[in-house]
Amino acid sequence: MSEQFVYDALPMRVRFAAGSLRALADEMDHLGVRRALVLATPEQSDLAAEVALSLGRRAAGVFAEARMHVPVEVARTAREVAQRLDADSCIAVGGGSTVGLGKAIALESSLPIIAVPTTYAGSEMTPIWGLTENGEKRTGRDRRVLPASVVYDPDLTFSLPADISVTSAVNAMAHAVEALYAPDTSPIISLMAQDGVRALASAVPEIIADPTNRAARETALYGAWLCGACLGATTMSLHHKICHALGGTLDLPHAPSHTVVLPHVLAYNQDSAPQARAALSSALGGDEEAPATRLWDLIRAWGAPTSLHALGMKGDDIATVVAQVLARPYANPTPVTEEGLTGLLTRAWAGKPPPAS
Ligand SMILES: [Fe+2]
Repeated sequence: MSEQFVYDALPMRVRFAAGSLRALADEMDHLGVRRALVLATPEQSDLAAEVALSLGRRAAGVFAEARMHVPVEVARTAREVAQRLDADSCIAVGGGSTVGLGKAIALESSLPIIAVPTTYAGSEMTPIWGLTENGEKRTGRDRRVLPASVVYDPDLTFSLPADISVTSAVNAMAHAVEALYAPDTSPIISLMAQDGVRALASAVPEIIADPTNRAARETALYGAWLCGACLGATTMSLHHKICHALGGTLDLPHAPSHTVVLPHVLAYNQDSAPQARAALSSALGGDEEAPATRLWDLIRAWGAPTSLHALGMKGDDIATVVAQVLARPYANPTPVTEEGLTGLLTRAWAGKPPPAS
């Protein structure tokens, strides 16, 4: 293990239980708040209405206008609505967009946020916020945006179809993988990362076999929590730089592109990060196989995408992404070269397995 580390614990309260959506009033009591504005996307407005109904007078109202990348106008309107309805807190029910809106509200007001995640994205465990103004996204880290409380109810994830559960799970795993070799990793993060990947990898095939399997849904959400905590505590490397370019510049779908790229980045890094390699070998199983190969095999067996070409990327775009990723240097276990990166992306684009090592 590494003999030197800094571990800076984030003050997060987590309530985890099937059916805990019904315990939101208790959670409000615990935080000492009276009236919450319920936040959601338009797609999840029914769920938000259900939450508001179950809270009765303790719901100030519903604001179901959360959108991707948190437009600054939406955040402003939500803050005004909260004030007008005399809300002293917000409950963000949903995925990254809704939790992101909650964070944007917390950034410029003192309203505590209760996050109720319905996906495995993990944003609820991080102090990272984002706001889009005039088409440009600003992001930052600020502890003020941390939810005061996170309520994980695995029953809410039944609505995630199996295929989205798979890519959402691999997207979560990417946080654990990069946390294991992050410059600011620590022993406690390694433990969480390893168990997070193990939990997700064991739950995914069971969810595919039966999306209503409650035990599997619990295990997956537990794994997603751990992976989110890893994301909140460390600095991400090559995988996230690549996926940022794929999403931001080429507009490829978020979780599927993470799913395709992760085994290839792991193959690129695993020999330079022996502790991460050992932790992932143990978490993913697969005997003598290198974890990158094992992960690629699993993703293929789970029926998830393995090719960027199939996600709509053109061959010419490889050079664009390489140039973008090389433009700003950052920590990564294996030095990032134009040749190495081009090889990696070419294989990921064509749907080839990562090189064995
Ligand atoms: Fe991510």
